[in-house]
Amino acid sequence: MKRRDLLKLGAVLASSATLAGATATTSNGAGKPAPLGDMPMDGTPVPPPITVPPFGGPLHIPQTLRPARRSLFCDEYAMDIVPVTQEIVPGLKTQVWTFGGQFPGPVIRAAAGRPVSLRLTNNLTVPTATHLHGGHNAHTDDGFPTDIVSPGQSRTYHYPNEQRGAPLWYHDHALGHEAENVYRGLAGLYLLTDAYDQALPLPSGSYDVPLMLRDAHIAADGTLVFDMTNVNGSDRKIILVNGTPTPYFQVAARKYRFRIANTANERAFGLKLADGSPIVQIGSDGGLLPAPAEVDSVSVWPAERADVVIDFSRYPVGTQIVLQNTVTFPGERTEVMRFDVVREERDDSMIPDEFQPNPVLAAPSVQRSFSMSFDPATGQFLINGKTFDPNRVDVAVARGAVEAWTVTNTDTRIPIPHTFHVHLSQFQLVERNGKPPAAAESGLKDTVSLLPGESVTFHVPFEDFAGTYLYHCHMLEHAMDGMMGVFDVAEN
Ligand code: C2O
Ligand code: CU
Repeated sequence: MKRRDLLKLGAVLASSATLAGATATTSNGAGKPAPLGDMPMDGTPVPPPITVPPFGGPLHIPQTLRPARRSLFCDEYAMDIVPVTQEIVPGLKTQVWTFGGQFPGPVIRAAAGRPVSLRLTNNLTVPTATHLHGGHNAHTDDGFPTDIVSPGQSRTYHYPNEQRGAPLWYHDHALGHEAENVYRGLAGLYLLTDAYDQALPLPSGSYDVPLMLRDAHIAADGTLVFDMTNVNGSDRKIILVNGTPTPYFQVAARKYRFRIANTANERAFGLKLADGSPIVQIGSDGGLLPAPAEVDSVSVWPAERADVVIDFSRYPVGTQIVLQNTVTFPGERTEVMRFDVVREERDDSMIPDEFQPNPVLAAPSVQRSFSMSFDPATGQFLINGKTFDPNRVDVAVARGAVEAWTVTNTDTRIPIPHTFHVHLSQFQLVERNGKPPAAAESGLKDTVSLLPGESVTFHVPFEDFAGTYLYHCHMLEHAMDGMMGVFDVAEN
């Protein structure tokens, strides 16, 4: 998307924040919470958000999770899902819910062809269901919203990793709890590499840096406030990068690769260097693009990932460059983080002129349409006019089929942005509003953004696995308020 479009998006987000917020509080009766989910703040006044001056602390690099056991055939990991108290804002104690005591969760590094098992023990007081977003997995390992792990119980998920290298992420998906569980911290990166990716001369090691972006509403006493009625960023004022508010990061004057993941429930980012220098986007949700794309602004909506390279050799040592968000609400600060160029360093890394082409898909045998809409009368979010029912199959798919799905955001009267995410398979965009997709979204994707009135068509293969899976808006409060559907892949 062009910067112009992102700015337009900013305006849309800003107006929908007010409108959607207002309707959500009045439409389902006297400010009552939606039927699904707990609202700990219900009935009590919502404490106002604090703001934090930018660049108060260094970027934290999430730890890489160590396997509990490595066998010949599998890397076995184990973590407890536990609450911990952490100093997110200097001087304040904040309780977060974590995978393995880390906020955000530790990075799981996996390699294509080598399976991973992940044993999770739920030590919270709410149910969990862990989903590997972008993973090509059996439905029993997919974290279906009703396939929950109750407090005190454990579950082992199996990931075969039979797919292209891609920046995946794991997060909670328990029915009626997903928005709050993810907001409180249940999210981590799962970086899947493959032989193709590993052979490339791209920046690696400590020059290959994960950046998990999200926002947060923190009160003066340090409480992390989850408030469903005011979600569109207006109270979620603090931008966290890997769990630290608007950090700085000391870099050498050379190229760095950043694995950006937007793990926010609702907030979109349009990322731009303050001096307007280009950023090279090399990958998206499903792995490397067919070719690198030079962009002024990197668009990452909730659940989307962007794999980018920034070359700091263009700056003299001593330069500080701010990474800005171009789609903020009026009056919000635009800083996301700051890069401080602190030393010279030699750089043998390179960005190839092209990567491998997308997999070739058969011509689609089925076309389907999906419309996404908010119903002001009920305060619910609908796909094809329906709210989510985990026991209803909305779409029956034949295993082995390739389908063409057209998704339209029909929320133009009350302008509300949506996203569309499909489990199980990476898809290929063929059209956005009747035109070919931009370079940055021409690779494999699992989540796509939709401004009010926009329409996208993608081709999606349903390979290997049978069973029920989800598609949904990844603005998690929308998903929790009904914007999910079920597809069932039948063996044939
Ligand atoms: Cu990020 Cu249904 O998932
Ligand atoms: Cu939505």
